[in-house]
Amino acid sequence: MCGIVGYFGPQDPKEIIVSGLKRLEYRGYDSAGVAILHDDKFKLVRASGKLGELQKKLATESFNGRLGIGHTRWATHGVPSERNAHPHKVEGISLVHNGIIENYQQIKSQLVADGVQPSSDTDSELVAHLIARKVKVTGDLFKAVQQVLPELVGAYSILVVWEKQPDTMVAFKNGPPLIIGVGEKETVVASDVQAIISCTNRVIYLEDLEIARIRGTKVELFTAGGEPIHREIKVINWNPEQIEKAGFKHFMLKEIHEQPRAVANALAPHINVDSQRTQLTGVGFGCASFEELERLDSAKDALLTAEKLSAIERIFIVACGTSFYAGMVGKYLLEKIAKIPVECDIASEFRYREPVIPPRSLVLVVSQSGETADTLAALRLAKSAGALTMSICNVRRSTIDREAHGHLYMNSGPEIGVASTKAFVSTLAMFDVLAVYLGRLRKAIGEIEERQYVEAFLEVPSQMEAVLAYDKFFAEAADRLKAFKGLLYMGRGVSYPLALEGALKLKELAYMHAEGYAAGEMKHGPLALIDERMLIVMVAPKDQHYEKTVSNLEEARARGGKIISIGTGNDANLKSISDYYLSLPMADWTVNPLLEAIPLQLLAYHVAEALGYDVDQPRNLAKSVTVE
Ligand code: F6R
Repeated sequence: MCGIVGYFGPQDPKEIIVSGLKRLEYRGYDSAGVAILHDDKFKLVRASGKLGELQKKLATESFNGRLGIGHTRWATHGVPSERNAHPHKVEGISLVHNGIIENYQQIKSQLVADGVQPSSDTDSELVAHLIARKVKVTGDLFKAVQQVLPELVGAYSILVVWEKQPDTMVAFKNGPPLIIGVGEKETVVASDVQAIISCTNRVIYLEDLEIARIRGTKVELFTAGGEPIHREIKVINWNPEQIEKAGFKHFMLKEIHEQPRAVANALAPHINVDSQRTQLTGVGFGCASFEELERLDSAKDALLTAEKLSAIERIFIVACGTSFYAGMVGKYLLEKIAKIPVECDIASEFRYREPVIPPRSLVLVVSQSGETADTLAALRLAKSAGALTMSICNVRRSTIDREAHGHLYMNSGPEIGVASTKAFVSTLAMFDVLAVYLGRLRKAIGEIEERQYVEAFLEVPSQMEAVLAYDKFFAEAADRLKAFKGLLYMGRGVSYPLALEGALKLKELAYMHAEGYAAGEMKHGPLALIDERMLIVMVAPKDQHYEKTVSNLEEARARGGKIISIGTGNDANLKSISDYYLSLPMADWTVNPLLEAIPLQLLAYHVAEALGYDVDQPRNLAKSVTVE
């Protein structure tokens, strides 16, 4: 979950590496560091804490070399400290690592027995020692890495440089991503394209157990056994402006405001506006219409066709965190519209519970990053059990995207705030489309119904625009809301996962106690929590559950709880029993969750802001969870 950047080229490596790390800080912010060539030696500068601490130290440093590497850390082995910060330097070798070396105890015992004294508590430093020892024999960094690779067990991506070969970087990985940006006069290596696109949009994706030898601007790939590999350079369509804050105080706020566009982008490829019908477009669905959707050769024999989809008898949705809550909404949609049984699982449970996956099952994995370790493991498990698989990812060509049989894309653009927002609503939009599409395939809905759904989907981006006006309300109310001892979020039907998501947002951003519950569960325990210091957030749109939800709200009110209710239109009834009433536009039940998400996100954002917390980088979290 750490971020790696390496640079070779004519620009100042310090500037490029630090700005790349800034883009990757969402991956971890416990410490940061750089090793940059200066007078033919790697000068190491590291600092505990966020990148700003490193920047302070670097302000007075200059470097005259063209090569450097940098790292922003999410601590696994060893506490966050300067001593445990990367890069690790062992003799002339400098190395940065993302991931976990699982056999590090064994490696450490061997090194210590040989007289090595590690200077940090990390597993990563040990790899630098192994390479430093080998390079003395091989006299070549690439060959040294080749010999060390079989000794490593675990999930890792590593970038290493050696003073004696000052134009060379060697990158290798098993698990977490590493991408190589190939400019005309420069080369950038990073954990994510966001750290590359200000230099170039031409990239090569390194695959597991491959080694990249980068000499100047010459990039060569090899298998672990030394066989050369030819890999096409891909052109990516994100642009540098998309990764700026565009005048917003935080990325999260910008991303909340981008949601109408994100949803429109998610829907666009899958709705035929002329016929008002849904379609699944993209490679894996028999239609390679977008240049950027083209698949790696290895995936081509695994197309997920409409024919295969119509034979599906059961769906498993598997994901983590916010993506899991989006999956829960998906379950309601798919069961109700497409009449197909759906199970929804947390990936870390699914992968270990020995799930029974019957023939003709579709396992649908949801992941914004496409790199979440548990979700990836669940996908691999499903494939090995013979299931058809489909991914809903935001990051194209991420590992999950590459490995699934079929692919839907959130199309949200880069999501940088650690708390997921626009990827969540885009996923909800994808489930809307998928449910209706499968409903038609399975003849569970007719043409007229499909058109009605499509009309509702097409309206939602502009309805979302209207809901964004609650930004101002929460900015003003946040000081009062932050004083509550806890918040209880409730909803029914598709609004139940929204209650869970609202509570998660508040917990992760404002570090306040919050619980999400199905409103019907209130009498089974949570009612005991309610007193005048508890704020109830009730999601109560005018849908089939409305009356029951309102009764639950009355019960909460009778126990003294203060109430924010989120309802539809000018609902005098809800208004009269709520301390704050937030009105959403009248919409179809299938899209209500997309509208409900906005006030829940704004509530968490503004309360966290009022409490003075770093909204984009909540403590202890990282955006891309590439370890279990
Ligand atoms: C919460 C949040 C996380 C992620 C989860 C899965 O705001 O962002 O709960 O949703 O870590 O991440 P992805 O979707 O990248 O697999």
